[in-house]
Amino acid sequence: MKKHICIGVSGGIAAYKACDIVSKLSKKDYEIKVLMTKHATEFVAPLTFETLSHNPCYSDLFDSNIEDPIEHVELARWADLFVIVPCSANVLAKVVHGLADDFVTTSFLACHSKKMICPAMNVHMYENEVTQQNLKKAKELGYMIVEPETGMLACNDVGKGKLASVDTIVDAIDACFEQEKKLTGKKVLINAGPTQEDIDPVRFITNHSSGKQGYAIAKAARDMGANVTLVMGPTQLDDLEHVNTVHVKSANDMFEAMKDHLNEADYVIMSAAVADYRPEIVSDQKLKKDDETMTIKMVKNPDILAYAGAHKRENQYICGFAMETENLEQNAYKKLVNKNCDMLIANNLFTNGAGFNVDTNVVTLFKKDEKICLPKMTKEQLGVKILETLKEIEEGNKSC
Ligand code: CTP
Repeated sequence: MKKHICIGVSGGIAAYKACDIVSKLSKKDYEIKVLMTKHATEFVAPLTFETLSHNPCYSDLFDSNIEDPIEHVELARWADLFVIVPCSANVLAKVVHGLADDFVTTSFLACHSKKMICPAMNVHMYENEVTQQNLKKAKELGYMIVEPETGMLACNDVGKGKLASVDTIVDAIDACFEQEKKLTGKKVLINAGPTQEDIDPVRFITNHSSGKQGYAIAKAARDMGANVTLVMGPTQLDDLEHVNTVHVKSANDMFEAMKDHLNEADYVIMSAAVADYRPEIVSDQKLKKDDETMTIKMVKNPDILAYAGAHKRENQYICGFAMETENLEQNAYKKLVNKNCDMLIANNLFTNGAGFNVDTNVVTLFKKDEKICLPKMTKEQLGVKILETLKEIEEGNKSC
């Protein structure tokens, strides 16, 4: 399937180079739609982009010829990647502050896909502290930046601000999608979230897991081209598109669902916070508070990771998780060995930026022969790292 790219063109002399970029991309396996600011249309006619992209070009939010009154939202949804090229100082300032007053900036703000910015402007505008702060903010927001080059600028000034070359920008766009091919043909099985262990028809025992880490791994695996099954305990998260999501409640349900998919999986990643114990007896009726104290006898749940490790087939790679509050390294190695994992991701619940319900994680990655302390990163970045490392382990094994 062709990847969809929105190209946002802002007003600047480098707009003419966007024509070449659109032409080159259209000849590759991409479908391109171009959006222009009003100022950009002073430099290049929309018809040029329509001809090169074989699609309509969008420049007037209130154009009565556009049938859909919320076309900017539709475009944002359609795009797998949104590139602003050239990105003027003005449009850069707008998109890092959430200003949206034309086709380019409204669609960019509404877009939740990958985003790339290719700045081009006068050297003094580029070097201005405000622009530098905006670029820093753009990076923090996760936008990819294709740095401008140094050279003679259209205004005859010499310095940094010249749009990166067409080839550099096209290569950067290709690289965005290269990641996706890394796991093509692989089957990845992930579990995530807490489990709920019933006490009676209205009460259960659970934990604080939000499921966000496993969900982010599933998203990363899908985006890297894998065929993904996600077995999820109860969470607030919406199902991911193109991910086979199996919803479960208890540890026993999760165990059964995992066993159904275990054998076919190339990579198994167990990030779920599985309850270690469940009430031995689940009451049919609501328990009444007749007594002053109450004791619930708990029995052990199956250890799903240990089961997977014990039944690991050839060419299958398993990653476990461990959340610790003390003796991280010692406990992590113990779990890695005892549960026959190829890799274990361990974190300390008390570390800032790690743990439940946050979008970042700070972890140590343990392989059988190596320990890597990773810096704070988003849960999705960690997902990519885990998947890449499993692939490295697999490739290392094959070359032995
Ligand atoms: N796990 C599992 N089944 C369980 C308990 C844990 O599959 N019943 C998995 C988790 O998904 C995680 C790993 O085991 O990948 C570590 O879980 P953790 O609770 O930290 O370790 P335990 O082995 O349960 O040891 P302890 O409670 O003593 O720390």
